[in-house]
Amino acid sequence: MPPDIATPDVSTTAAQAKLDRLWSRGTAFLGCPVAIMGGAMSWVSERHLVAAISNAGGFGVIACGSMGPDLLAAEIAGTQAQTDRPFGVNLITLHPQLSDLIRVCLEARVGHIVLAGGIPPGAAVRAVKDGGARLIAFTPALVLAKRLIRSGADALVIEGSEAGGHIGPVSLMVLAQEILPHIHDVPVFVAGGLGHGEAILALLEMGASGAQLGTRFAAATESIAHPRFKQAFIRASARDALPSVQLDERFPVIPVRGLVNEGVKRFLRFQAETRDRFQAGELSKEAAQLAIEHFWAGALRRAAIDGDVENGSVMAGQSVGMVTAEQPTAGIIAELVAQAVAALAARIRAI
Ligand SMILES: Cc1cc2nc3c(=O)[nH]c(=O)nc-3n(C[C@H](O)[C@H](O)[C@H](O)COP(=O)(O)O)c2cc1C
Repeated sequence: MPPDIATPDVSTTAAQAKLDRLWSRGTAFLGCPVAIMGGAMSWVSERHLVAAISNAGGFGVIACGSMGPDLLAAEIAGTQAQTDRPFGVNLITLHPQLSDLIRVCLEARVGHIVLAGGIPPGAAVRAVKDGGARLIAFTPALVLAKRLIRSGADALVIEGSEAGGHIGPVSLMVLAQEILPHIHDVPVFVAGGLGHGEAILALLEMGASGAQLGTRFAAATESIAHPRFKQAFIRASARDALPSVQLDERFPVIPVRGLVNEGVKRFLRFQAETRDRFQAGELSKEAAQLAIEHFWAGALRRAAIDGDVENGSVMAGQSVGMVTAEQPTAGIIAELVAQAVAALAARIRAI
């Protein structure tokens, strides 16, 4: 066989083996062959998408969001009916029924629980660990990463501000440099703005054990997101996914990254009107703050499920520019792996 045909096969096999080594800690921790987690997305990360990700070799995560214990139990059972592969459940720490939700996960033998939306309370950490599940927590900084490990986190996610949904202020590139070289006790998964396998590879080489992606999976064939929501993703470029803007420092707005639409523009006007009503003495400061916080209530559902992408909240990461078509979940995962392998193989051939 001529060398130019034989060589790529050899280098591709070697590259696949190298990739398997690079994310072996992540795959062992998650119990799946591909260390790519489907980031939990409220309304979107339900049984169909979660099972599709796990069936494709990745690790799906149910977004509990505001579901109560009964709905969560049904969603877990529905997912288990579609896959016998491991998957996780993401719970918001501020949920008033957090301990009941943890119990539901443990009773259903969910092996991995992600606690999101703040530093997990000690009682929740103990409940997860005592119940035999593995605890995954988000960290926004190195000092908190160390504290979370001391308090029992089995793995960490570092999510950069490129991500869709609620975001912190620091980009993944900076978080990766700040945190990856110093955390060796537990696997660290990277998230935010990832849409190409070569970028995932670079982060694995920096010490990550795997990656978490949301935006690309939201537009997958198996995602129940409304066709208009998926179309908005396909049409958008990275620069269309912007963080929400806070008009007045007296009325804080939690930054959420999403596609700019009529709702985003109305939110700015609403903040100005609400501030003016506060200044005119028509509203107390608390009432004004509450009104601003409630502006987006139900807005993700309106966009993602009802398809009102003009007025709802079209949460999306900067990775949205890498969503170019509605693809089967297995195709997305295979593409990411192939991109990482191709990049590695090219390096091996260049040696
Ligand atoms: C539509 C949407 C909804 C999301 N909802 C949640 C959520 O409920 N809980 C959570 O922890 N993260 C949520 N995220 C963040 C994802 O889990 C994931 O970390 C993020 O999407 C990664 O960045 P990427 O979108 O650039 O891939 C959401 C993201 C999107 C795009």
